[in-house]
Parts: sequence; structure tokens; C-alpha cells
Amino acid sequence: MKASFVTVTCALLLSSASPSLAATYSLTDTIVGSSFYSAFDWQNIADPTHGRVNYVDQTTSRNQNLTYASSDTFILRTDFRTVLNPSGPGRNSVRIRTKKTYTNHVAVFNVRHLPQGCGTWPAIWETKEAGWPNGGETDIMEGVNDQGPNAATLHTVAGCTMPEPRAQSGRVQHHFLRHLDCNWLVNGNAGCGVRFPTGNSYGPPFNNNGGGWYVIERTPTYIKVWFWARNDGSVPAEVRNGLGQVNPNNWGVPAAYFPDTSCRIPNFFQEHNIIINLTLCGDWAGSVYGQSGCPSTCVDYVNNNPAAFQNAYFNFASIRVYQ
Ligand SMILES: *[C@@H]1O[C@H](CO)[C@@H](O)[C@H](O)[C@H]1NC(C)=O
Ligand SMILES: *[C@@H]1O[C@H](CO)[C@@H](O)[C@H](O)[C@H]1NC(C)=O
Repeated sequence: MKASFVTVTCALLLSSASPSLAATYSLTDTIVGSSFYSAFDWQNIADPTHGRVNYVDQTTSRNQNLTYASSDTFILRTDFRTVLNPSGPGRNSVRIRTKKTYTNHVAVFNVRHLPQGCGTWPAIWETKEAGWPNGGETDIMEGVNDQGPNAATLHTVAGCTMPEPRAQSGRVQHHFLRHLDCNWLVNGNAGCGVRFPTGNSYGPPFNNNGGGWYVIERTPTYIKVWFWARNDGSVPAEVRNGLGQVNPNNWGVPAAYFPDTSCRIPNFFQEHNIIINLTLCGDWAGSVYGQSGCPSTCVDYVNNNPAAFQNAYFNFASIRVYQ
């Protein structure tokens, strides 16, 4: 713990002395196809957000084809064959967490398809689960019930707020109040979210367009999240082609920008795992299920309509991490 604190402090001093030093990152992890099985742990835990899912272990997910890998594809899905007993466990699904942790880094998620359908709540995010929320949380991709656009959000302990306006193409979330305080104790842990500018950043429009790239850059002085749709001509070649080095300084304005104006990043964000989870219903998808135009009640729908979850899958082309 002490060693990593020292590292962070040095990086901070360096970056304030000459910010351009931090611009170029080198590829450290390429996660493609079956390497998802070695890069991630399968977390067969109770869903902390009370979803109607049963997270299974790796052996079960492979046996039931809930995860599937080929040379250039990794699929992660919920079961879509079983009618559930209402008093039994939820629909089988998968939650995976990287074995490695990251502080300053760029991660490029090349995604072809996101889970879709009423009741679905997929997420790609980073956090330190032990002691949460002391180590902070960054949600890169998250949504419910096919309702786009994507939102990127920070969750922290008290003391981290965001300025407005700031240099981003997305819009600050608001629901009565603007979400500028990242403190988990404010607004029922809504966090300081930013909605992306384009509808094809989430749900059926994302899938119909062949997906795209979500990218996070975390430094000691800011966190940025970009999104490029599959057919967006402005996607940087180094992102599109998974090159060995990337330089986010050349990428222009991000969809979401979280500067350290009044949030000292190293004080609120520790070493993070990348987590990918797919729940159904639960605290968020369940609570806005009806107003999303979805039929029946969320739990009944999940229990009784397995075929409705045929498209409730992630298709990853790759995850590349740069440091
Ligand atoms: C397993 O899933 C993959 C990807 O969705 C699919 O191509 C394959 O046909 C499935 N295998 C079986 C036995 O269902
Ligand atoms: C994934 O798990 C975390 C809790 O550990 C939760 O905050 C998040 O909402 C979950 N998301 C999904 C989509 O399951």
C-alpha cells in the first residue's frame, strides 16, 4: 500500500512539472477471445444490486455456453432457455473482474454488441471493491432497459465535485438537480454522471450500428471517457487498429471529462479492477422498468420469458490496456 502511494505521488509531481510526458501510453494487456478466461476471475457472488440473476462460476458459464470464446470474439450472456421458479434463484448470468489492477492507464473496449432487452442492466466499470467507496468507482458504460444514451459516472467519498461547464461533448446528468457531486451519499449514490451526445452509444442503436469503442484515460489530474461508434470516421487509427502505443492528447474533446479542479484524483481513486457485469432488474433497471415502456413487472418478465433474453449478450472484439 505504501509503495503504491509513493508511486502515485511521484507520477503526480512529474505530470505537473511536464504534462506532455504522460501523453504516450504503451500496450500492457491484450485481452482477446479465450484470454478473457485467464485475465478475469468469475465472481459467483450474490448480486449486490439485488438483481434477478444468479452469477455462475467459470465452469458453469462455459458448460452452459453463457461465455464463449473464439480467436477474435468473447461472448458473455444470460441464460435464455429456462423458465424460472419464482421462489428459486434468478436467471443465470456472469460477472467478471480482472485479476490485475490499474491506476494511471488507458483502456480501450472494442465492443460489437451490448446486452439488450427489457430488464437488462449491463455495465463496464472500474473500482476497488474492498472498502468501497473509499477507492472510488468509474462507470464507463452503463444503462438499463435499452434506454440510451450511455452515461459515464464517478462515485466517491465526500469531497469530490465537478465544475460546470467543462470541456466535454456529453451533458451533465440532471434529475431535479445537476449531478456535479460525486459523493455516494448525495442523490442516493447517483454520482456525477455525464450522458453521451449520441444515441448510438448504448442499446439497440449501438447494436444496430455494429457497436464501437469506449475508452477511458485515467491520470493523476483527470479522468476522461471517449466513445466512437463503429462507423465514426474520426476514431483514431491507434484505437481502431489496437496499436502498441496511444496518445490521447490527439483525440480531441472526450464525451465525459472529470478534472481535478475540486477533486484530487489520487485521494479518491485507488488501484482498480475492471469489472463487467450483466444483471437483470435490481435497484436501477427494476425501479424504472415500467417507465421504460417494458411489459408486466420486471421480475415476472425475467422469470417467464427466457426467449426475451436471446439478445442479452456482450460481444467483445478486444480489451486493450495501456500504461
Ligand atoms: C455458443 O455460443 C456461441 C456464441 O453465441 C454460438 O456461436 C454457439 O453456436 C453456441 N454453442 C452452442 C452449443 O449453443
Ligand atoms: C455490478 O455490481 C456492482 C456492485 O458491486 C453494482 O454497483 C453495479 O450496479 C452492478 N452492475 C450490474 C450491471 O450488475
